[in-house]
Amino acid sequence: MARKTRSWLWLGVAVVLAGGAVESKAQLAPRKADDWITTLESPQRVAGQKIDEVLAKLALKPGMAVADIGAGSGLFTRPIAKAVAPSGKVYAVDIQQDLLDYINKRDKDENIRNVQTVLGAYDDPKLPARNIDLAFINDVLHHIEKRAAYLKALGTYMKPSGRIAIIEMNKNDPNTPHKSQPELLVGREEILQWMSDAGFKLVDEHADLFPGTKWFLVFGRK
Ligand SMILES: C[S@@+](CC[C@H](N)C(=O)[O-])C[C@H]1O[C@@H](n2cnc3c(N)ncnc32)[C@H](O)[C@@H]1O
Repeated sequence: MARKTRSWLWLGVAVVLAGGAVESKAQLAPRKADDWITTLESPQRVAGQKIDEVLAKLALKPGMAVADIGAGSGLFTRPIAKAVAPSGKVYAVDIQQDLLDYINKRDKDENIRNVQTVLGAYDDPKLPARNIDLAFINDVLHHIEKRAAYLKALGTYMKPSGRIAIIEMNKNDPNTPHKSQPELLVGREEILQWMSDAGFKLVDEHADLFPGTKWFLVFGRK
């Protein structure tokens, strides 16, 4: 084999190996922004999210720095922003810029001034600060391909006293929406293991809010 061809071959192998080891390039079950917004803001879904009850469990206080991971249309971003105002801040993280544009527009229209939208990477929220008091991940973990890597990266942005709250569909629910898509099913024990590997332990669980249908787990540093 000619020397030049061999060099290209080795370069190709190196690129494939590096790409495989470093980051994920896709989200699971993606949708276009318009479709997401219609689905996420539908009255039926909104009612089922129990936003006020979830917010009460999160024990938000003015001044807190909160990361809404996979913020979507900002359904939770906006009430969280109001709860931590005036001095607190919400970083609304998503991997779709068009969803972040929608959040920015809603915030402007509704005069919400303490939200900063952040374009995350598939494996890293890319937050601009490492002082996060609370990271909130609602209905998102099953869309992330490399969940363990994502949660480990997220942990590095948290304050020592910071908490990570995860609400995720209970895969044991016989009516769980993605039961025919095993790649979208996430187990409670798996979440505990990924969080433990990221240096976090379970500090609270709100099993009463979505009995049998969703996990609501809260983690703090070990
Ligand atoms: C089902 S929606 C939930 C939106 C919002 N949390 C809510 O409950 O209304 C899932 C969102 O996660 C986002 N997402 C998927 N993978 C992501 C990743 N790796 N990092 C950040 N956001 C992600 C999607 O773009 C989408 O907006």
